Amino acid sequence: MRPTDTPPSTADLISDPYGTYARLRESGPVHRFEGPDGKPAWLVTRYDDVRAALADPRLSLDRSNALPGNYGGFSLPPALDANLLNMDPPDHTRLRRLVVKAFTPGRVEKLRGPVRSFADELLDAVEPAGRADLLASFAGPLPVVVICHLLGVPRTDQVDFRAWTDAMITPDRTRPHLMKEAVASLMAFFTALIETKRAEPGDDLLSDLIAVQEAGDALSRDELTSLAFLIVFAGYENVTHLIGNTVLALLDRPELLRTVRKDPDGLAALVEEVSRWDGPTPLAIRRFPVEDMEIGGVTVLAGETVLLSLASANRDPARFPDPDRFDLGRDRSGNLALGHGIHYCLGAALGRMETETALAALLERFENLELDVPRDELTWRPAIRARGLKSLPVRWSSDGRTGF
Ligand code: HEM
Repeated sequence: MRPTDTPPSTADLISDPYGTYARLRESGPVHRFEGPDGKPAWLVTRYDDVRAALADPRLSLDRSNALPGNYGGFSLPPALDANLLNMDPPDHTRLRRLVVKAFTPGRVEKLRGPVRSFADELLDAVEPAGRADLLASFAGPLPVVVICHLLGVPRTDQVDFRAWTDAMITPDRTRPHLMKEAVASLMAFFTALIETKRAEPGDDLLSDLIAVQEAGDALSRDELTSLAFLIVFAGYENVTHLIGNTVLALLDRPELLRTVRKDPDGLAALVEEVSRWDGPTPLAIRRFPVEDMEIGGVTVLAGETVLLSLASANRDPARFPDPDRFDLGRDRSGNLALGHGIHYCLGAALGRMETETALAALLERFENLELDVPRDELTWRPAIRARGLKSLPVRWSSDGRTGF
């Protein structure tokens, strides 16, 4: 079966994502869709289909399986193709096994103290002003500093590093050469950093990744560089928006804010519920069937682009009763915000820890945090792949320290 209903528009998915997804889920499981790049895709909206597709080996992440001319996504230089989110087994299995040996729970735990110090430093800088755009001055810079610390980027290089990553991740479409230059600068930087770490290993993930060996196998230079890029791509904006969306969910619910202040242990449940209810990654990475197949009873041809909506799946009433209700007490097992299957987020523990630590630092310092603009003036980024605010102006008074 090939559905013939009116395709959803990008504009609807941006202006009212959850209302639009609800209508789509009700009218059918899989919809024809024209992506922002003007290329056709299939949009999968129901929980069971999305979860099954995330783990279906017939759906490839390798863009060489896309129909010619059917994929207009952003491409990195060929040397960076060897990254986990552009790979299928057995290459993915080999690479992920090596990476997991270095990206351990112990390494994430060791970051907890530094993450708290970085969060406190950022808040020290804005506290005297009594107001700030929390995205620009806190939720944005924090994950970059954490990635630098994780990879062992020297402090003296961090200003350049942030400028390049920003130019790459949120490019100025009117000046595309800036993005290309940023990618080239970052590539040269990582190549040199890898050589430095090879000669003088430090206590960081990059040094551990260089040292990882298994059955005589090790990561090549291109694989190391690709991985460093992937960590920037996957570990920056997602965390920024998860922090921003969590702060907004609290400011919208003063009662909840009071509850969380009394019980900081509730932060983990809070962050988990925000990731389900308003997570930063509405769509999984595009996938391409390696053979004709059925998804939700709809025939999808080999090489067509398939978009799996994590945002829609996480609001599917068939899985989460009364899904639009924000409810810390609900059963959230099966939350797909961080993916599912072999590509399940490698940085899940780090991303959660960063967000919880950021929230703890913020709430502990400011008792009277409030929005600094009328609620209806907040605007969302005009993207279907990222769910995050453009800015989050807040204010506090200087006697507002709490100590939780
Ligand atoms: C907390 C916010 C985060 C969210 C919502 C998030 C979300 C996701 C999702 C949905 C996937 C699966 C994509 C797919 O299957 O199509 C994924 C994969 C991945 N994430 Fe995250 N992520 C977050 C934080 C991080 C951080 C902090 C890092 C690293 C520092 C990271 C590194 C990765 C990597 C390397 C993969 C690819 C894994 C593979 O293909 O085997 N993520 N992430």
